[in-house]
Amino acid sequence: MIHYKTTEEIEIMRHSCLLVGKAHAELAKVLKPGMTTMQVNDMIETFIRDNGAVPSFKNYGGTYPFATCISVNDVVVHGFPNNNTIKDGDIISLDIGVYKNGFHGDSAYTYAVGEVSNDVKQLLKITKESLYKGIEKARNGNRVGDIAFAIQEHTEKKHGYGVVRDLVGHGLGRNLHEEPQVPNYGKRGSGAKLKPGMVLAIEPMINMGVKEVYQDEDGWTIRTRDGKASAHFEHDVHITKAAPDILSSFEEIEVAEKANPNLTWCHD
Ligand code: MF3
Ligand code: CO
Repeated sequence: MIHYKTTEEIEIMRHSCLLVGKAHAELAKVLKPGMTTMQVNDMIETFIRDNGAVPSFKNYGGTYPFATCISVNDVVVHGFPNNNTIKDGDIISLDIGVYKNGFHGDSAYTYAVGEVSNDVKQLLKITKESLYKGIEKARNGNRVGDIAFAIQEHTEKKHGYGVVRDLVGHGLGRNLHEEPQVPNYGKRGSGAKLKPGMVLAIEPMINMGVKEVYQDEDGWTIRTRDGKASAHFEHDVHITKAAPDILSSFEEIEVAEKANPNLTWCHD
C-alpha cells in the first residue's frame, strides 16, 4: 500500500531529510585520509542524536548493527563501519537515515578522498547526474518506470556502467521502506503511477564494471562481482502537482566538499 502524505506531513519529512544533509555536511568538512570509517560513523551518530533524532538504520530489521552504512570502493551499499583507515584515492559512499517526529529522511552521497583516477571521478559525476535525470521524471502522472528508464539510459546505455539490479529505491515516510519500489532500471511507462503526496527515495547504485554483486559473510555488505568501484547518490523526492520537490539537500554537502582540500570535487 502506498502512503500519501499531507502537506503537514511533508513539512515534517522535509525537516528529517534536511537533517540528513546536515549530517553529511558535518563529515564533508572533516573527511580525510587516516580517519577510520568507525570514526565517521560515530561522528554522524552523535550529530543525529544531538539534533533530537534517531539513526534509522541502527537495528533495522533487528540486525543492522550501526547508525550508518559506509561503503568503500568496491562495496556498493550496506558496508559496516570498521577500524580500517580511509586511504588517499578511496571513494566512500555514506548512507544516512534519521527518524524524527515520526518520519524518516534517507540520503546517500559518495565522496572521493584525495586523488582519485579520472575513471572514478567520471563514475561519481555520471551517477549523481543520473539521480537528477531520474528526479526530473518524478512527476504527477508519470510512472516509476519513467524514473528507472532515465537512470538506466544515462548510466548503462550512455556510459556502459553496470546498474545494480538486486537493490532498489523505495517509498519513504513513517517507515524507512514503503511502497513502491523504485528500481534504477526498467521500461518507460511501466510500474506504479506517480501521484501528489508520494515521497520516493531515489538511489542509483552504479558500478564502473559489471552490474552483478554479491553479499559478504556478514550478511549485509554488498560488493561488486568484479571488484571495481561503485557509486551511490540518494535523494528523497516529493511528488507534487507541479515540479519534483526534493526534500533532502546536497547544497551544504557540496559547499563543504569543495572547501575541503582532502576531497576531490568530481561534478563539473
Ligand atoms: N538507504 C538504504 C536503503 O534504503 C539504507 C538501508 S540500511 C538498513 O535501503 F540497514 F537500514 F537497511
Ligand atoms: Co534508501
